[in-house]
Order: sequence, then C-alpha cells, then structure tokens
Amino acid sequence: MRHLHISTDGITKLPNLPTKRIPELEINIAQCTKCDLAETRNLTVPGDGNYNADIMLIGEAPGSNEDKTGRPFAGRAGSLLDELLMTSGIERSDVYITNMVKCRPPSNRDPQLVEISACQPYLDLQISLVNPSVIVTLGRFSFAKFFPQITLRKSRGIVKDWRGIKILPVYHPAAALYNPNLKPKLIEDFQKITTIFAKKVNTDLSNIQTRPNIQLNLFE
Ligand code: URA
Ligand code: SF4
Repeated sequence: MRHLHISTDGITKLPNLPTKRIPELEINIAQCTKCDLAETRNLTVPGDGNYNADIMLIGEAPGSNEDKTGRPFAGRAGSLLDELLMTSGIERSDVYITNMVKCRPPSNRDPQLVEISACQPYLDLQISLVNPSVIVTLGRFSFAKFFPQITLRKSRGIVKDWRGIKILPVYHPAAALYNPNLKPKLIEDFQKITTIFAKKVNTDLSNIQTRPNIQLNLFE
C-alpha cells in the first residue's frame, strides 16, 4: 500500500518515492550504469524477500543464474542457502537477501573495490529501509563492509555489534560446494541465528511483570 502525504492545500501528493521505498529503489537499480558491470550484465539483481525482515542476508555478487532470473541465490549456492535456513527453522520468505553488487561480474570474477563502492549507496539504503536486527554476512566481501580489519576465518560464527545491528559472519555457501568440510561449520553458524532470537525473546519476557494467576486463586 502506498503511503500518501496530504499537503496543507488538501492535494494528495506522493512522497519522494525513489529513495524511500524498496520497490522504487529496485527500479533505480535496474536503470543503473554507475559502474562497468552495467555493460555486461543481463538482469540487475537488486534483492529479494521480506521488506520488513528481522534478518537480512548479504552475499557477494550475482552469478549466471541470478543474472538470468534477476533473483539472488537462484542457483546451487541458493539451494544450499535454503537448506541452511531450513535447518535453523527459517523460510527464505522470512528474510531479505541481497548482494554487495547488484550486477554480475563477468566470468564470476570477484567484484572490484570500485564496483563495490559504486554500488554501496543501494545497499546502505536497503539496510536502512529493511532495518533488520540481524545481518548475516555470506563470505568475506560482505563481512569486510562492516569489519574491514578482521579476517572471516577468525570471526565466523561470532556475533558482533555494528551500530545496534547484530552481525553474524558466516562462510559463503558456495565455498561449501567446493569444500564439503565447510558445510558442518555453516550449519553450526546458521544455528546461531536462532540463539540470537532466543536471547531476545528471553530478555523481552524478563521485562514483562508477572501478574498473579487469578484463575488459580479462584480454585484454591
Ligand atoms: N552468490 C552470491 O554471493 N550471491 C548470489 O546471489 C548468488 C551466488
Ligand atoms: Fe550500478 Fe551496482 Fe550494477 Fe554497478 S553493480 S551498474 S553500481 S547496480
């Protein structure tokens, strides 16, 4: 539903949409030519999922399946991601998923710093619009956005605070496709998402004052 702004002269006006709402942001991204990746991409891959998600996942860059469909994590790494989410009791439709860059790097090479910084304003806006309480960084590129000085190997599975958002760094699911030894580590790290929310629920409950049980008193 669109939020309409009523101006003082009684005329209903749409607010300045492109920077305020994710669907409009996606349209902006689809037209973007701010870096060289625009020349070789097929479809832009802005992001997908629940716009009000508590959990946001940030990957690296679209690959060939994503470039064809316009959806993040549409290939084999995506199936593994779904499996990892499911083992933690989370549906893909519960989360919001995006990438550091919204266009596919040719031959799936690593995104370059200049491309990452050209694309950064879109990601920053997505973070502030979705406003998640947890961000799961998939792989080293998205972890480096928040903690550029620390290596992923040392920090994976350890929740860190970044401006009031909990950051959970994990290996990239594609890495586990090449090195199956990483899969148990990914499963273990994804379980931490549940732990973060379990803690949150406990804290919330401890703030609620327990009232005397009136029903019980009636039958005493
Ligand atoms: N790998 C990523 O980092 N992102 C995708 O969307 C797909 C594969
Ligand atoms: Fe624009 Fe980002 Fe695509 Fe570069 S990668 S063209 S900055 S949307």
